Amino acid sequence: MRDYSNHSLLHHNTFGIDAACHRFLEYSSVDDARQVATLLRDAEEPFMIIGSGSNLLLTADYPGIVITPSPMATAAEGIEADAESHTLRCWAGLVFDDVVDYAVEHGFYGMENLSLIPGQVGASAVQNIGAYGCEAVDIIESIEAVEIATGNIVEIPASECHYAYRYSRFKGEWHSRYIITHVTYRLNAVFTPHLDYGNIRSELSRNGISEPTARQLRDVIIAIRNAKLPDPKVEGNAGSFFMNPIVGKEKFCDLQAQYPQMPYYTMSDDAGNESYKIPAGWMIDQCGWKGRSLGRAGVHAKQALVLVNRGGATGNDIVALMHAIQEDVMKTFGLQLKPEVNII
Ligand code: EPU
Repeated sequence: MRDYSNHSLLHHNTFGIDAACHRFLEYSSVDDARQVATLLRDAEEPFMIIGSGSNLLLTADYPGIVITPSPMATAAEGIEADAESHTLRCWAGLVFDDVVDYAVEHGFYGMENLSLIPGQVGASAVQNIGAYGCEAVDIIESIEAVEIATGNIVEIPASECHYAYRYSRFKGEWHSRYIITHVTYRLNAVFTPHLDYGNIRSELSRNGISEPTARQLRDVIIAIRNAKLPDPKVEGNAGSFFMNPIVGKEKFCDLQAQYPQMPYYTMSDDAGNESYKIPAGWMIDQCGWKGRSLGRAGVHAKQALVLVNRGGATGNDIVALMHAIQEDVMKTFGLQLKPEVNII
């Protein structure tokens, strides 16, 4: 285990915010995670567990302990592949996209649409990451973790995690209860491409592909993302800043009558009740924010859902922009945008 005092978090958040924490712990095994749990039980300061900080906005120095799983030198080192059950058991600190690449390369199918999502394996299970019609919940079988209060090693089936759109119990009542060490993904031996979301099909046919291989699908998803989303190494950001609001039929009909061109996704629950997801990026765009800045914080010119650090922004600069956008969207659409990013 690595243990640092007064550690800079600049390289641990993709917004590129220069903040520090009082103590920083990096665990690289289940034994380490148990040691961290013991230490946290006795600690008198607050703590937070982070991945690569790709969904994190720091508004001040953190006066406590930050804990993170160590990265692995290579993906293969952190993956146990079982060809019979078609599962990949992955170390929490692995870069999620390295697992997708490994899966495509080794014939474990079902993760292609999640290509290039920033972040780590552990965070994929907390956040229920999703893109292009797929979500982590579609492929997660179970999560292994150390329970902080007891030091016990537990294995939690995905069915107990109450997964929903960008939500799991790890974000709710289980917040700060577990240190995740591994996630097992259940994949398929047979490649069944999911091409019905957004412009996947049109991008494939632009490349002359009608029946893509898993590798070709991954490459197209990467190209689509790269065309729209800023590279955090060039301009600090945390991907989608807000969640897409979900509304009931009445509100949806009101909005649709007013904005017939409004894009939306229909969702239905187990009981067959319909609700509607309205793209926050579209609403922010309609409010005229796309490409604009407020001080050192800005709205990405190609995808209005992404707020960026134009250079030297503080967390509070980004928060000020967030409030200005929320206010405009509320005035125009009567909807409260909720951040997807964790603001600390
Ligand atoms: N749109 C605009 N203007 C914009 C942005 C979007 O008009 O500036 C419109 C688009 O034309 C489209 C609709 O809004 O009709 C939806 O846009 P898009 O397909 O880009 O997806 P999104 O709803 O904005 C979500 C996820 C992304 C994910 C994409 C693709 C959330 C919060 N975000 O964005 O996830 O990559 O779908 O599946 O659900 C992330 O979480 O960090 C992330 C990037």
